[in-house]
Amino acid sequence: MSTATLDMPTKPTTRNTAALAGREVPAGREVPAGIDRIVLTGFMGSGKTTAGALLAERLGWRFLDLDREIEHRHNRTVPQIFSESGEAHFRHLESTMLACLLGQHHVVVALGGGAPEALGNRLLLEQTPHTAVVYLAAPFATLLDRCLQQAATPEATTRPVLADLTAAERRFHLRRTHYERIAAHTVDTSALTLDQTAAAILDLLRDDRVRSEELRRIR
Ligand code: S3P
Repeated sequence: MSTATLDMPTKPTTRNTAALAGREVPAGREVPAGIDRIVLTGFMGSGKTTAGALLAERLGWRFLDLDREIEHRHNRTVPQIFSESGEAHFRHLESTMLACLLGQHHVVVALGGGAPEALGNRLLLEQTPHTAVVYLAAPFATLLDRCLQQAATPEATTRPVLADLTAAERRFHLRRTHYERIAAHTVDTSALTLDQTAAAILDLLRDDRVRSEELRRIR
């Protein structure tokens, strides 16, 4: 990938998400037993925010987007925090907010793509009980395409990390191992719609539930 600069790369806003949350996820799936929160991780453009909102709606749980919560708490957008206070400060706010969100029950949490870079965040995710982390995976080119499509929507907010695509691709490769390690499940979203992604997450967690019930029976 050659060095390039994107003009104001964006991600969906909560308002976009709310509009999408009306879409149907196939019924008949139960809240996974023993799971109190589902955390979606993955690179920008992986569908964490939109699929997460769909999933929360299907479960009757609350949806929390880490970036939106930071913006709300600090009354500044993520790009403003990056440009006015620097990435390190954003990462500090991100870690603090993550700890706060992981104290909530019956929530689907969408992480920012960079949250698993910090060891402290990874340890927190691994050690928070009753928490299922799911990695939404796709190749870099697919993710970038999606981000560019989102950038064309009027209400999207900017993604400062995409300003330098070479650095962004490097981050993608570095982060992949972290995403895989912290996640109990990986969903390959390359060929999935957002509804299908939400349904796939529920299927995986439901299979977990069936397996653990079977294990309990034979013990
Ligand atoms: C970032 C991803 C963004 C947001 C911030 C930094 C990253 O979240 O947290 O712009 O470092 O990858 P999304 O992954 O939800 O776009």
